Amino acid sequence: MNSCLVESRQTTIHQDLATLVRKHAATTYLRPIAEFSIAAFRCFQEMFAASGKKRLVIDSGCGTGDSTAFLAKIFPEAFVCGFDRSLHRTAKHRYQSETRNYAVLQAELEDMWRLLATPGYTDIIDFHALYYPNPYPKPRHILRRWHGHPLFAPMLNLAATTELRTNWRVYAEEFSESAQMLGYKTVFEELPYNIEPRTAFERKYLASGHLLYRVEITKHERH
Ligand SMILES: C[S@@+](CC[C@H](N)C(=O)[O-])C[C@H]1O[C@@H](n2cnc3c(N)ncnc32)[C@H](O)[C@@H]1O
Repeated sequence: MNSCLVESRQTTIHQDLATLVRKHAATTYLRPIAEFSIAAFRCFQEMFAASGKKRLVIDSGCGTGDSTAFLAKIFPEAFVCGFDRSLHRTAKHRYQSETRNYAVLQAELEDMWRLLATPGYTDIIDFHALYYPNPYPKPRHILRRWHGHPLFAPMLNLAATTELRTNWRVYAEEFSESAQMLGYKTVFEELPYNIEPRTAFERKYLASGHLLYRVEITKHERH
């Protein structure tokens, strides 16, 4: 079945983006971390320790975990952890017996990101995947897009490289522009149509002929 293109009244970068990104970068996000997130974090810590790996890759909003398993293959030296709040999606994951350097956990990203935001982790997270986040295309919902979230700046600081993928060009443009406002250099490109799909949504979008975009942000290239 063909999936629909993102429809929005918003066809260019949101007019409030710059104000929002700068305001959020100067504030601290104070929402208390939920008990269940602390439990999920302990589970992650135990699995990471048991893996014997010294490097980390995280897959935020991993859905059914296809991308987590994919990343575990291309980062064999790392422990790869996918986080998604939807148990309905994470429970669908079928672990691949040949790659066991990964886990797919139910967790709230806003809590995991803050729990990971210590040098003990930020120094060893090589890659952060943010694949096909919900676009929230209504202009008034910009605060729900990750670059409109108060945790955008600390989130970009988690990994050496952060990669966003989306099928909504405006989302990619806003994400890239927001990172640039915080001093990062960014790579913005269209994905080739013949790539091997990394996620369930990517597979669906490719099959429907959507254009897909990626934004790559590298921490050491901050100017
Ligand atoms: C559009 S789906 C994409 C899933 C997957 N990355 C893919 O491409 O197939 C977005 C995912 O982000 C998850 N998500 C959104 N907000 C989240 C949050 N605050 N904490 C954890 N997961 C979240 C949703 O549960 C959903 O599975």
